Amino acid sequence: MFVFPLKPFAGHERFEAVGKERIQEFSVRAACNMFLGVSSFEVDFVTAQCSKLAGAGIGIELPDSAKRVAVAIGTDEMYHAFVANECLADIKRFTGIVPVAQEAGGPADFNARKPPLEHFKEALGPGNEALAEVTLLCFLENNFTEELYGIAKGQTPESQMHTIIREHVMDEGRHMVYFQRLLKHIWSSITEEMRCTLGKSMVDFCDIYLTLDEQTVMGGYTSTLRQLGLSEEDCITIARDTILKDGLLSKDEMPSIVNPKHLMKVAGVLEHQPTRDLMIASGWLKDAAVAVA
Ligand SMILES: [Fe+2]
Ligand SMILES: [Fe+2]
Repeated sequence: MFVFPLKPFAGHERFEAVGKERIQEFSVRAACNMFLGVSSFEVDFVTAQCSKLAGAGIGIELPDSAKRVAVAIGTDEMYHAFVANECLADIKRFTGIVPVAQEAGGPADFNARKPPLEHFKEALGPGNEALAEVTLLCFLENNFTEELYGIAKGQTPESQMHTIIREHVMDEGRHMVYFQRLLKHIWSSITEEMRCTLGKSMVDFCDIYLTLDEQTVMGGYTSTLRQLGLSEEDCITIARDTILKDGLLSKDEMPSIVNPKHLMKVAGVLEHQPTRDLMIASGWLKDAAVAVA
């Protein structure tokens, strides 16, 4: 079963009172929502960007090998969408459950804020739309994967969800490396002035979309709990108790920053003094020693 989003609440007496049937329905619905997210993200954004990298380009010269791999990745991504859609059709056929777009956001949900593509486009200014798109893609391909791993971690090797997700996770592991190298190439190809602008836009991206502060965690927890049909009071009590029990992490320890920080390190972004200073000032890096480590 797909129960990863419910794990933080396990053991809470009000949560344990939820019936098995409701948990099962929630789990199937959560799987549906994930498949819908995969399908639309791959088709609407990732594949379109891969086509651009392989064809018309992004305004920065790319080696032929990078263009060829972009075609291979685009092919992977369309296949991921295909599998997700097949699963959605099967789940609908056998259970009647269809995905629902969620209203309130968990940490990975952009609905409550301006779309991240708008953030990069505004930050980089007119004429840099392709750079904005590809920068976001590099982050999402190094962020989305973290979530997939999160899901897979809770699965026993024999479960059906594990089998479905394993293939995708393996592909995404390769994609991560490609997008790290692509960002490194881009970073070394742009002017110092643009590096300052792009670096700041990345730090702001982390601040806006990756900060798991009390408000974000509370919002994510209550929106999950609401889907179990719990009363508003129960949702808030369980969410509050869970935050108190688990505590909140400091920014440099948040799981949401691990992969993006690795991306920025490999791409050479963290070696860039002005950007590194912003990362330290914002609390994503503990001090100068950590930044160069
Ligand atoms: Fe994918
Ligand atoms: Fe990917």
